[in-house]
Amino acid sequence: MKSRSFFSGRNACSVFHILHLLHAILVSAYKPLSDSFLRNVPSGDSDFNIENGTLLAPILIPRVPGTPGQSKVQHHFVDFFRTELPKWTIEWQNSTSTTPATGNVEVPFANLIFKREPPWTKPGQANLLTLVAHYDSKYQPGGFVGATDSAAPCAVLMHVARSIDKYVTQMHDEMAELGEGGTVEMDMGVQILLLDGEEAFVKWTDEDSLYGSRALAETWAAAPNPPMSKYPNPLSQISVFVLLDLLGSANPKVPSYFLTTHWAYKSMASIEERMRNLSLLETKPPSSFLPQTGEVVTQSFVSDDYLPFMARGVPVLHVIPSPFPDVWHTMDDDGAHLDLPTVRDWAKIVTAFALEWLDMMEVWYEPEENA
Ligand SMILES: *[C@@H]1O[C@H](CO)[C@@H](O)[C@H](O)[C@H]1NC(C)=O
Ligand SMILES: *[C@@H]1O[C@H](CO)[C@@H](O)[C@H](O)[C@H]1NC(C)=O
Ligand SMILES: *[C@@H]1O[C@H](CO)[C@@H](O)[C@H](O)[C@H]1NC(C)=O
Ligand SMILES: [Zn+2]
Repeated sequence: MKSRSFFSGRNACSVFHILHLLHAILVSAYKPLSDSFLRNVPSGDSDFNIENGTLLAPILIPRVPGTPGQSKVQHHFVDFFRTELPKWTIEWQNSTSTTPATGNVEVPFANLIFKREPPWTKPGQANLLTLVAHYDSKYQPGGFVGATDSAAPCAVLMHVARSIDKYVTQMHDEMAELGEGGTVEMDMGVQILLLDGEEAFVKWTDEDSLYGSRALAETWAAAPNPPMSKYPNPLSQISVFVLLDLLGSANPKVPSYFLTTHWAYKSMASIEERMRNLSLLETKPPSSFLPQTGEVVTQSFVSDDYLPFMARGVPVLHVIPSPFPDVWHTMDDDGAHLDLPTVRDWAKIVTAFALEWLDMMEVWYEPEENA
């Protein structure tokens, strides 16, 4: 980021203000990130090293609900946000359930919610870009790690949070100083949901799967925001539910699953294409990660943590490849089988998508090439 080059003091403020007014009028959402902004999106390099990468390595362990691995990764997530991203709030949503594998034992499930709302918004006022992955791993086979399922997506979301943080801070500071806020476009925040208990313990059924997401969607549906809030409950504050799953194998092909979010899919696909054109991605796959740029969406869908949310009217963008990675639900879904260039490219694409969704061109100042 460079400092302001064209405006200063009051001018900068009023230009900023006018941009926001215009923006509020042109409901057509955000500006695409400029090429220079795309070039500045970090790739995470060492974050994703499988032996010592600060974000990914600690998640590459069995983390079955109710086992020590589950609490280890929970601590990893909480410590990361506490120490590196102190402006994000941390909430737990806990539940227990019996499972077909564990008899009468109540297995604990704990969802983690990391959130940044604009500082001026009252409870129930902000709309939230919601980025989601599950952190639990399968009960069987014993020792299963689930690197694509979904350790890598969790690490990608941690990377996204850290990469967007300074822009979110800057935007909030500038807007707070100007006394802005109050429109849908201005009251945008972001939350990251790391969900527990996605996997079936024995065999996928409606009861044996999605333990964490079912509990969270149900809790939020039954937790009204204060009277007079803009949004009636936390579910309705979700502007879009972007669920990453099974990412980290080479040559993924993610179709567009839902007509209602196809426009969001296309904006992510366009970021990928622009980043490829600018040689900002490491991989050279035979087809794009997000190839479906026409108007057609796929006819099939994949059951996953979005279901209890979609059933309650939440718009969903499901970022999961079809076909699944070859290592899916086998012991080979481990760190060694990840394609790290693919993981880092996803990290960049999703970071840029979040920055664009949050309209961060408002706080981006073009480098002074000719100064
Ligand atoms: C992490 O491990 C890689 C090899 O996998 C090594 O090249 C690198 O130096 C290590 N980094 C640190 C900080 O230990
Ligand atoms: C939820 O469970 C976690 C992990 O067991 C625990 O650390 C946390 O304090 C619990 N939070 C609430 C609000 O119950
Ligand atoms: C990417 O490059 C191709 C080939 O030069 C071009 O046709 C396409 O319009 C570019 N896409 C974007 C999004 O800039
Ligand atoms: Zn799975």
